[in-house]
Amino acid sequence: MPRAGLRTLDDLGDVAGRRVLVRVDFNVPFDADGTVSDDTRIRLAIATLEALRERGARLLIVSHLGRPEGRDPQWSLRPVAAHLSALLDEDVVLAASLDEVPEGDLVMLENIRFEAGETKNDGALAARLGALADAYVNDAFGSAHRAHASTEGVVHHVQRSVAGLLFEREVQTLGRLLDEPERPLVAVLGGAKAGDKIGVINRFLEIADIVLLGGGMSYPFFAVSGKRIGRSLCDEAGLQAAREVLEREATRERLRLPVDLVIADDFSADANLRVSHPIDIDDEWEAIDIGPLTRADFAAVIRDAGTVFWNGPVGAFEIEPFAEGTHAIARAVAETSAVTVVGGGDSGAALTRFGLQDEVTHLSTGGGAALELIEGQVLPGVAALTGR
Ligand code: 3PG
Repeated sequence: MPRAGLRTLDDLGDVAGRRVLVRVDFNVPFDADGTVSDDTRIRLAIATLEALRERGARLLIVSHLGRPEGRDPQWSLRPVAAHLSALLDEDVVLAASLDEVPEGDLVMLENIRFEAGETKNDGALAARLGALADAYVNDAFGSAHRAHASTEGVVHHVQRSVAGLLFEREVQTLGRLLDEPERPLVAVLGGAKAGDKIGVINRFLEIADIVLLGGGMSYPFFAVSGKRIGRSLCDEAGLQAAREVLEREATRERLRLPVDLVIADDFSADANLRVSHPIDIDDEWEAIDIGPLTRADFAAVIRDAGTVFWNGPVGAFEIEPFAEGTHAIARAVAETSAVTVVGGGDSGAALTRFGLQDEVTHLSTGGGAALELIEGQVLPGVAALTGR
Protein backbone atom coordinates (compact mmCIF):
# COMPACT_ATOMS: atom_id res chain seq x y z
CA MET A 1 0.00 0.00 0.00
CA PRO A 2 1.67 3.27 -1.04
CA ARG A 3 1.47 5.28 2.15
CA ALA A 4 5.08 6.08 2.83
CA GLY A 5 6.32 8.73 0.45
CA LEU A 6 3.10 10.69 0.20
CA ARG A 7 3.99 14.16 -1.09
CA THR A 8 2.71 16.84 1.27
CA LEU A 9 2.52 20.62 1.55
CA ASP A 10 6.17 20.53 2.67
CA ASP A 11 7.05 19.41 -0.86
CA LEU A 12 5.01 22.07 -2.62
CA GLY A 13 7.63 24.80 -2.88
CA ASP A 14 6.91 28.47 -3.46
CA VAL A 15 3.34 29.25 -4.48
CA ALA A 16 3.26 32.99 -3.76
CA GLY A 17 1.12 34.66 -6.40
CA ARG A 18 0.51 31.29 -8.12
CA ARG A 19 -2.83 29.66 -8.77
CA VAL A 20 -3.27 26.36 -6.94
CA LEU A 21 -6.01 23.92 -7.85
CA VAL A 22 -7.30 22.49 -4.57
CA ARG A 23 -9.46 19.36 -4.84
CA VAL A 24 -11.69 19.09 -1.78
CA ASP A 25 -14.52 16.69 -0.97
CA PHE A 26 -17.47 18.97 -0.26
CA ASN A 27 -19.95 16.21 -1.06
CA VAL A 28 -22.04 17.12 1.99
CA PRO A 29 -25.64 16.41 3.03
CA PHE A 30 -28.41 19.03 2.91
CA ASP A 31 -31.55 19.77 4.93
CA ALA A 32 -34.92 19.90 3.19
CA ASP A 33 -34.58 23.71 3.01
CA GLY A 34 -31.34 23.41 1.01
CA THR A 35 -28.86 24.34 3.73
CA VAL A 36 -25.82 22.22 4.54
CA SER A 37 -26.82 19.87 7.38
CA ASP A 38 -23.35 18.54 8.25
CA ASP A 39 -20.38 20.73 7.35
CA THR A 40 -17.64 18.53 8.87
CA ARG A 41 -15.99 17.96 5.49
CA ILE A 42 -15.95 21.70 4.79
CA ARG A 43 -14.61 22.71 8.19
CA LEU A 44 -11.87 20.10 8.09
CA ALA A 45 -10.56 21.35 4.74
CA ILE A 46 -10.13 24.90 5.98
CA ALA A 47 -6.68 24.30 7.50
CA THR A 48 -5.31 23.49 4.05
CA LEU A 49 -7.04 26.43 2.38
CA GLU A 50 -5.63 28.77 5.03
CA ALA A 51 -2.13 27.28 4.86
CA LEU A 52 -2.09 27.91 1.11
CA ARG A 53 -3.47 31.43 1.48
CA GLU A 54 -0.76 32.20 4.04
CA ARG A 55 1.80 31.22 1.44
CA GLY A 56 0.25 33.73 -0.93
CA ALA A 57 -1.44 31.24 -3.27
CA ARG A 58 -4.59 32.06 -5.24
CA LEU A 59 -7.03 29.20 -4.83
CA LEU A 60 -9.21 27.48 -7.38
CA ILE A 61 -11.31 25.06 -5.35
CA VAL A 62 -12.75 21.96 -7.05
CA SER A 63 -15.28 19.48 -5.66
CA HIS A 64 -18.04 17.16 -6.74
CA LEU A 65 -21.50 17.02 -5.17
CA GLY A 66 -23.74 13.98 -5.49
CA ARG A 67 -23.93 11.95 -8.67
CA PRO A 68 -25.60 14.33 -11.15
CA GLU A 69 -26.49 13.30 -14.68
CA GLY A 70 -25.21 16.30 -16.60
CA ARG A 71 -25.59 19.93 -15.56
CA ASP A 72 -28.44 19.53 -13.05
CA PRO A 73 -28.99 22.71 -10.95
CA GLN A 74 -30.17 20.55 -8.06
CA TRP A 75 -26.53 19.58 -7.60
CA SER A 76 -25.06 23.06 -7.85
CA LEU A 77 -22.24 23.89 -5.43
CA ARG A 78 -23.69 27.39 -4.93
CA PRO A 79 -24.96 26.71 -1.34
CA VAL A 80 -21.65 25.07 -0.49
CA ALA A 81 -19.70 28.09 -1.79
CA ALA A 82 -21.96 30.31 0.33
CA HIS A 83 -21.35 28.11 3.38
CA LEU A 84 -17.57 28.20 2.88
CA SER A 85 -17.73 31.94 2.39
CA ALA A 86 -19.53 32.31 5.75
CA LEU A 87 -16.99 30.09 7.52
CA LEU A 88 -14.03 32.01 6.06
CA ASP A 89 -15.76 35.36 6.34
CA GLU A 90 -14.62 36.11 2.79
CA ASP A 91 -16.22 36.08 -0.65
CA VAL A 92 -15.96 32.81 -2.54
CA VAL A 93 -16.68 33.37 -6.23
CA LEU A 94 -18.42 30.46 -7.98
CA ALA A 95 -17.21 29.86 -11.55
CA ALA A 96 -20.14 28.58 -13.60
CA SER A 97 -17.95 26.49 -15.92
CA LEU A 98 -14.38 25.79 -16.95
CA ASP A 99 -14.77 28.36 -19.76
CA GLU A 100 -15.47 31.16 -17.31
CA VAL A 101 -12.95 30.97 -14.52
CA PRO A 102 -12.48 34.47 -13.13
CA GLU A 103 -9.24 35.75 -11.67
CA GLY A 104 -9.39 36.10 -7.91
CA ASP A 105 -7.88 34.71 -4.75
CA LEU A 106 -10.80 32.49 -3.78
CA VAL A 107 -12.70 30.90 -6.64
CA MET A 108 -14.74 27.70 -6.57
CA LEU A 109 -15.54 25.75 -9.72
CA GLU A 110 -19.12 24.58 -10.20
CA ASN A 111 -19.68 20.84 -9.49
CA ILE A 112 -16.92 19.06 -11.42
CA ARG A 113 -19.28 16.14 -12.14
CA PHE A 114 -21.22 18.51 -14.43
CA GLU A 115 -18.31 17.79 -16.80
CA ALA A 116 -18.92 14.54 -18.69
CA GLY A 117 -15.25 13.54 -18.55
CA GLU A 118 -14.82 13.74 -14.77
CA THR A 119 -15.86 10.25 -13.69
CA LYS A 120 -14.31 8.75 -16.86
CA ASN A 121 -10.94 10.21 -15.90
CA ASP A 122 -10.91 11.80 -19.34
CA GLY A 123 -7.44 12.97 -20.37
CA ALA A 124 -8.69 16.12 -22.12
CA LEU A 125 -10.59 17.27 -19.02
CA ALA A 126 -7.60 16.46 -16.79
CA ALA A 127 -5.37 18.54 -19.10
CA ARG A 128 -7.82 21.45 -19.01
CA LEU A 129 -7.86 21.37 -15.22
CA GLY A 130 -4.08 21.17 -15.11
CA ALA A 131 -3.76 24.14 -17.48
CA LEU A 132 -5.77 26.30 -15.08
CA ALA A 133 -3.20 26.12 -12.30
CA ASP A 134 0.48 26.13 -11.41
CA ALA A 135 0.16 23.40 -8.80
CA TYR A 136 -2.35 20.86 -7.50
CA VAL A 137 -3.23 20.06 -3.89
CA ASN A 138 -5.58 17.18 -3.13
CA ASP A 139 -7.37 17.41 0.23
CA ALA A 140 -10.29 15.22 -0.87
CA PHE A 141 -9.50 12.02 1.00
CA GLY A 142 -13.19 11.09 0.78
CA SER A 143 -12.73 10.73 -2.99
CA ALA A 144 -9.29 9.10 -2.95
CA HIS A 145 -10.80 5.76 -4.02
CA ARG A 146 -12.03 7.35 -7.27
CA ALA A 147 -9.78 7.50 -10.34
CA HIS A 148 -11.43 10.61 -11.72
CA ALA A 149 -10.04 13.53 -13.75
CA SER A 150 -9.89 15.85 -10.73
CA THR A 151 -8.54 13.24 -8.29
CA GLU A 152 -6.08 11.30 -10.42
CA GLY A 153 -5.84 12.37 -14.08
CA VAL A 154 -4.96 15.99 -13.34
CA VAL A 155 -1.80 14.93 -11.50
CA HIS A 156 -0.29 14.01 -14.87
CA HIS A 157 -0.87 17.55 -16.18
CA VAL A 158 0.69 19.68 -13.45
CA GLN A 159 4.30 20.13 -12.42
CA ARG A 160 3.66 19.90 -8.72
CA SER A 161 1.03 17.82 -6.95
CA VAL A 162 0.81 17.10 -3.25
CA ALA A 163 -1.63 16.03 -0.53
CA GLY A 164 -3.31 18.64 1.70
CA LEU A 165 -3.24 18.52 5.49
CA LEU A 166 -6.52 16.62 5.93
CA PHE A 167 -5.61 14.07 3.24
CA GLU A 168 -2.21 13.55 4.87
CA ARG A 169 -3.72 13.10 8.35
CA GLU A 170 -6.30 10.60 7.09
CA VAL A 171 -3.68 8.46 5.31
CA GLN A 172 -1.31 8.56 8.27
CA THR A 173 -3.92 7.81 10.93
CA LEU A 174 -5.39 4.89 9.03
CA GLY A 175 -1.88 3.69 8.17
CA ARG A 176 -0.88 3.65 11.84
CA LEU A 177 -4.06 1.83 12.76
CA LEU A 178 -3.19 -0.93 10.30
CA ASP A 179 0.57 -1.12 10.81
CA GLU A 180 1.35 -0.23 14.43
CA PRO A 181 -1.79 0.09 16.56
CA GLU A 182 -1.72 0.32 20.33
CA ARG A 183 -3.00 -3.09 21.39
CA PRO A 184 -5.46 -4.53 21.96
CA LEU A 185 -6.87 -3.38 18.63
CA VAL A 186 -10.66 -3.60 18.68
CA ALA A 187 -12.80 -3.18 15.56
CA VAL A 188 -16.49 -2.39 15.99
CA LEU A 189 -18.25 -3.10 12.72
CA GLY A 190 -21.91 -2.41 12.10
CA GLY A 191 -24.18 -1.30 9.29
CA ALA A 192 -26.79 -3.02 7.26
CA LYS A 193 -25.04 -5.53 5.08
CA ALA A 194 -22.21 -7.99 5.79
CA GLY A 195 -21.82 -8.64 2.06
CA ASP A 196 -20.81 -5.00 1.45
CA LYS A 197 -18.13 -5.03 4.13
CA ILE A 198 -16.72 -8.53 3.89
CA GLY A 199 -13.29 -7.17 2.84
CA VAL A 200 -13.12 -5.01 5.95
CA ILE A 201 -14.42 -7.77 8.24
CA ASN A 202 -11.79 -10.15 6.88
CA ARG A 203 -8.98 -7.62 7.23
CA PHE A 204 -9.82 -6.91 10.87
CA LEU A 205 -10.19 -10.61 11.60
CA GLU A 206 -6.54 -10.86 10.51
CA ILE A 207 -5.09 -7.85 12.32
CA ALA A 208 -7.39 -6.99 15.24
CA ASP A 209 -7.47 -8.67 18.64
CA ILE A 210 -11.26 -8.52 18.92
CA VAL A 211 -13.89 -7.80 16.26
CA LEU A 212 -17.30 -6.75 17.62
CA LEU A 213 -20.00 -7.20 15.02
CA GLY A 214 -23.44 -5.64 15.34
CA GLY A 215 -26.31 -4.18 13.35
CA GLY A 216 -27.92 -5.72 10.29
CA MET A 217 -24.65 -7.30 9.22
CA SER A 218 -24.73 -9.62 12.24
CA TYR A 219 -28.15 -11.17 11.57
CA PRO A 220 -26.98 -13.56 8.80
CA PHE A 221 -24.45 -14.97 11.28
CA PHE A 222 -27.34 -16.12 13.48
CA ALA A 223 -29.23 -17.48 10.49
CA VAL A 224 -26.32 -19.65 9.35
CA SER A 225 -25.90 -20.89 12.92
CA GLY A 226 -29.44 -22.25 12.76
CA LYS A 227 -31.13 -19.57 14.86
CA ARG A 228 -34.51 -18.12 13.94
CA ILE A 229 -34.21 -14.44 12.92
CA GLY A 230 -37.83 -13.68 11.93
CA ARG A 231 -38.11 -10.77 9.48
CA SER A 232 -34.64 -9.40 10.32
CA LEU A 233 -32.47 -7.99 7.55
CA CYS A 234 -30.69 -10.82 5.76
CA ASP A 235 -29.66 -11.38 2.15
CA GLU A 236 -27.79 -14.05 0.22
CA ALA A 237 -24.53 -12.05 0.11
CA GLY A 238 -24.72 -11.66 3.90
CA LEU A 239 -25.29 -15.38 4.41
CA GLN A 240 -22.34 -16.16 2.19
CA ALA A 241 -20.13 -13.69 4.04
CA ALA A 242 -21.18 -15.18 7.39
CA ARG A 243 -20.43 -18.73 6.22
CA GLU A 244 -17.04 -17.65 4.90
CA VAL A 245 -16.09 -16.03 8.21
CA LEU A 246 -17.42 -18.80 10.47
CA GLU A 247 -15.61 -21.50 8.51
CA ARG A 248 -12.24 -20.24 9.71
CA GLU A 249 -11.34 -21.49 13.17
CA ALA A 250 -8.69 -18.85 13.91
CA THR A 251 -10.88 -15.90 12.98
CA ARG A 252 -13.87 -17.32 14.82
CA GLU A 253 -12.04 -16.80 18.10
CA ARG A 254 -11.62 -13.09 17.49
CA LEU A 255 -15.18 -12.51 16.44
CA ARG A 256 -17.74 -11.43 19.00
CA LEU A 257 -21.41 -11.34 18.06
CA PRO A 258 -24.34 -9.90 20.05
CA VAL A 259 -25.69 -12.22 22.75
CA ASP A 260 -29.06 -10.45 22.83
CA LEU A 261 -31.01 -8.26 20.43
CA VAL A 262 -33.80 -5.72 20.70
CA ILE A 263 -36.62 -6.84 18.42
CA ALA A 264 -39.66 -4.95 17.12
CA ASP A 265 -43.00 -5.92 15.56
CA ASP A 266 -42.81 -2.94 13.19
CA PHE A 267 -40.06 -0.73 11.78
CA SER A 268 -41.45 2.43 13.33
CA ALA A 269 -41.06 4.57 16.45
CA ASP A 270 -44.31 3.24 17.98
CA ALA A 271 -43.49 -0.45 17.48
CA ASN A 272 -43.70 -2.88 20.38
CA LEU A 273 -40.21 -3.83 21.57
CA ARG A 274 -38.79 -6.92 23.29
CA VAL A 275 -35.37 -8.30 24.08
CA SER A 276 -34.52 -11.62 22.47
CA HIS A 277 -32.13 -13.61 24.68
CA PRO A 278 -31.07 -16.21 23.79
CA ILE A 279 -31.56 -15.10 20.21
CA ASP A 280 -34.70 -16.70 18.82
CA ILE A 281 -36.98 -14.40 16.84
CA ASP A 282 -40.58 -15.19 15.84
CA ASP A 283 -41.68 -14.77 12.21
CA GLU A 284 -43.54 -11.48 12.76
CA TRP A 285 -40.66 -9.76 14.57
CA GLU A 286 -37.35 -8.27 13.44
CA ALA A 287 -34.07 -7.32 15.10
CA ILE A 288 -33.44 -3.58 15.20
CA ASP A 289 -30.68 -3.07 17.79
CA ILE A 290 -28.24 -4.85 20.09
CA GLY A 291 -29.65 -5.77 23.51
CA PRO A 292 -28.61 -4.57 27.01
CA LEU A 293 -26.19 -7.46 27.73
CA THR A 294 -24.42 -6.85 24.43
CA ARG A 295 -24.28 -3.10 25.08
CA ALA A 296 -22.48 -3.74 28.36
CA ASP A 297 -20.19 -6.40 26.87
CA PHE A 298 -19.16 -4.31 23.83
CA ALA A 299 -18.67 -1.19 25.97
CA ALA A 300 -16.35 -3.10 28.34
CA VAL A 301 -14.23 -4.36 25.44
CA ILE A 302 -13.98 -0.82 24.06
CA ARG A 303 -13.02 0.55 27.47
CA ASP A 304 -10.07 -1.88 27.76
CA ALA A 305 -8.82 -1.38 24.19
CA GLY A 306 -5.56 0.28 23.11
CA THR A 307 -7.02 1.27 19.73
CA VAL A 308 -10.63 1.23 18.56
CA PHE A 309 -11.83 1.46 14.97
CA TRP A 310 -15.58 1.94 14.62
CA ASN A 311 -17.57 1.81 11.40
CA GLY A 312 -21.31 1.44 11.15
CA PRO A 313 -24.22 1.73 13.59
CA VAL A 314 -25.30 -1.37 15.55
CA GLY A 315 -29.01 -0.57 15.21
CA ALA A 316 -31.45 1.55 13.25
CA PHE A 317 -30.36 4.61 15.29
CA GLU A 318 -32.19 7.13 13.10
CA ILE A 319 -35.41 5.98 14.84
CA GLU A 320 -35.22 7.14 18.48
CA PRO A 321 -36.33 3.95 20.31
CA PHE A 322 -33.84 1.91 18.23
CA ALA A 323 -30.84 4.15 19.02
CA GLU A 324 -29.75 2.88 22.44
CA GLY A 325 -27.17 0.37 21.20
CA THR A 326 -25.46 2.82 18.84
CA HIS A 327 -25.57 5.49 21.55
CA ALA A 328 -23.87 3.09 24.00
CA ILE A 329 -21.13 2.34 21.44
CA ALA A 330 -20.65 6.05 20.70
CA ARG A 331 -20.42 6.82 24.42
CA ALA A 332 -17.92 4.01 25.03
CA VAL A 333 -15.80 5.16 22.06
CA ALA A 334 -15.90 8.74 23.38
CA GLU A 335 -15.01 7.72 26.94
CA THR A 336 -12.27 5.13 26.43
CA SER A 337 -8.66 6.25 26.80
CA ALA A 338 -7.80 4.21 23.68
CA VAL A 339 -6.84 5.81 20.35
CA THR A 340 -10.22 6.01 18.59
CA VAL A 341 -10.76 6.18 14.85
CA VAL A 342 -14.27 6.47 13.48
CA GLY A 343 -14.74 5.67 9.81
CA GLY A 344 -17.06 8.31 8.42
CA GLY A 345 -20.51 7.76 6.99
CA ASP A 346 -23.26 6.65 9.36
CA SER A 347 -21.07 6.21 12.44
CA GLY A 348 -19.81 9.77 11.97
CA ALA A 349 -23.42 10.95 11.67
CA ALA A 350 -24.29 9.01 14.85
CA LEU A 351 -21.43 10.62 16.78
CA THR A 352 -22.57 14.04 15.63
CA ARG A 353 -26.17 13.30 16.55
CA PHE A 354 -25.10 12.38 20.10
CA GLY A 355 -22.84 15.46 20.30
CA LEU A 356 -19.70 13.31 20.66
CA GLN A 357 -17.93 14.15 17.39
CA ASP A 358 -15.11 16.00 19.17
CA GLU A 359 -14.51 13.20 21.68
CA VAL A 360 -12.65 10.85 19.34
CA THR A 361 -9.03 10.85 18.20
CA HIS A 362 -9.91 10.89 14.52
CA LEU A 363 -13.23 11.12 12.70
CA SER A 364 -12.54 10.14 9.11
CA THR A 365 -14.10 12.17 6.30
CA GLY A 366 -13.77 9.22 3.97
CA GLY A 367 -16.37 6.47 4.37
CA GLY A 368 -15.76 4.42 1.24
CA ALA A 369 -12.15 5.56 0.83
CA ALA A 370 -11.27 4.63 4.43
CA LEU A 371 -12.84 1.18 4.07
CA GLU A 372 -11.03 0.48 0.78
CA LEU A 373 -7.73 1.54 2.34
CA ILE A 374 -8.37 -0.81 5.28
CA GLU A 375 -9.20 -3.65 2.90
CA GLY A 376 -5.69 -3.21 1.49
CA GLN A 377 -6.67 -1.69 -1.85
CA VAL A 378 -4.47 0.86 -3.56
CA LEU A 379 -6.41 4.13 -3.70
CA PRO A 380 -5.79 5.90 -7.04
CA GLY A 381 -5.83 9.33 -5.37
CA VAL A 382 -3.16 8.23 -2.87
CA ALA A 383 -1.04 6.45 -5.47
CA ALA A 384 -1.02 9.57 -7.66
CA LEU A 385 0.54 11.61 -4.85
CA THR A 386 3.09 9.03 -3.81
CA GLY A 387 6.76 9.14 -4.72
CA ARG A 388 9.08 11.99 -5.60
C1 3PG B 1 -18.33 10.05 -0.61
O1 3PG B 1 -19.17 10.77 -0.07
O2 3PG B 1 -18.19 8.85 -0.31
C2 3PG B 1 -17.38 10.68 -1.57
O3 3PG B 1 -17.63 12.02 -1.71
C3 3PG B 1 -17.39 9.96 -2.90
O4 3PG B 1 -18.62 10.09 -3.53
P1 3PG B 1 -19.06 9.04 -4.66
O5 3PG B 1 -19.29 7.73 -3.96
O6 3PG B 1 -20.26 9.61 -5.32
O7 3PG B 1 -17.87 8.92 -5.60
